[in-house]
Amino acid sequence: MSKTAFITGVNGQDGGHLAKLLNDKGYKVYGVMRGQMEASHPRAQKFLEEFPYVNLVFADLLDLSSLTHAMQEIQPDEVYNLAAISHVGYSFRDPLLTADVTGKGVTNVLEAIRLAGLADKTRFYQASTSEMFGGLDYNRPETGYTEESTFHPRSPYGVAKLYGHWITQNYRESYGMFALSGILFNHEGDRRGPEFVTRKITKTVARIKHGKQEFMELGNMDSKRDWGYAGDYVEGMWRMLQQDKPKDYVLATGETHSVREFVELAFKEIGLDISWRGEAEDEEGVDQNGIVRVKVNPQFYRPAEVNLLLGNPTAAEEELGWKRNVDFPGLVKLMVEKDLEVEA
Ligand code: GDD
Repeated sequence: MSKTAFITGVNGQDGGHLAKLLNDKGYKVYGVMRGQMEASHPRAQKFLEEFPYVNLVFADLLDLSSLTHAMQEIQPDEVYNLAAISHVGYSFRDPLLTADVTGKGVTNVLEAIRLAGLADKTRFYQASTSEMFGGLDYNRPETGYTEESTFHPRSPYGVAKLYGHWITQNYRESYGMFALSGILFNHEGDRRGPEFVTRKITKTVARIKHGKQEFMELGNMDSKRDWGYAGDYVEGMWRMLQQDKPKDYVLATGETHSVREFVELAFKEIGLDISWRGEAEDEEGVDQNGIVRVKVNPQFYRPAEVNLLLGNPTAAEEELGWKRNVDFPGLVKLMVEKDLEVEA
């Protein structure tokens, strides 16, 4: 008999990659789209055009009864909680809603599983994040953050995610549930939303190539991230839930690159070499023809910043046999190529 999976946030970046992976593996896939939407809603229709095999469930992370009904009906073998307010910058503007959705929402899903009488049957994956580490000097190991590193979140988003991380562990310890967290470093790709820096850069580079725009505006370009490909990371999520015993894992590439490096590589894909002049808010990226292509706009700075993230995926590689396939240049290339098509 095929297994049944239930994905919250199925219409997000990771939701799409995961739905496809699970469908390819023979799962029956259910996915939650938020709120009062009908299947005839244009957003639902658009999603179903690409993922016709996903059975849409209209529930809300803030509404325990809708989730409990869904669990009772579907009786999933595996639940992947990917839904969240996931933009770090936005979470400073709406910290309470972020706490409700990204934090308390996790308890709603766990409670729904328990109330539906599925605590012994259903395996639960929580989308934890490298944002929980905070990237501060005092807790940053040379060889990258591991499952044992100290947390110090630097945004309402990070704080809410840390609550989700601990409540997952608490349900595992309190009720013996097969509940675990994947601590995922940044993962990107051609399904990434344009509000995140990588997609913003590749989209703008494509628009510049097609003559639709002349330059891009960015915030902190010194910031460094451990950027992998989302398609590789959903495989890791699935592997975590196939273990004999529930245990949390870090997924990362083990490399870190600055926003500036991402910009340079993305422009190289369209034949532009960027050099830098000026400092801080006056810094500019100029191409070989003397045209300014990158400007700094402090509007994109954050009240507190995570300056450097570097993950250590050794445990996942050794114990789960997980391996990333796309490297950093490969990631930039696939994203620029996609956007050149989209923006043509
Ligand atoms: N979004 C954005 N827009 N970020 C910018 C910009 C800009 O114009 N300019 C510079 N940055 C910097 C941000 O300040 C941050 O340091 C870095 O680029 C990456 O920002 P995002 O792409 O928004 O991602 P993030 O690292 O804050 O968060 C992502 O990764 C987390 C895992 O570490 C999100 O996917 C989170 O949901 C995820 O948990």
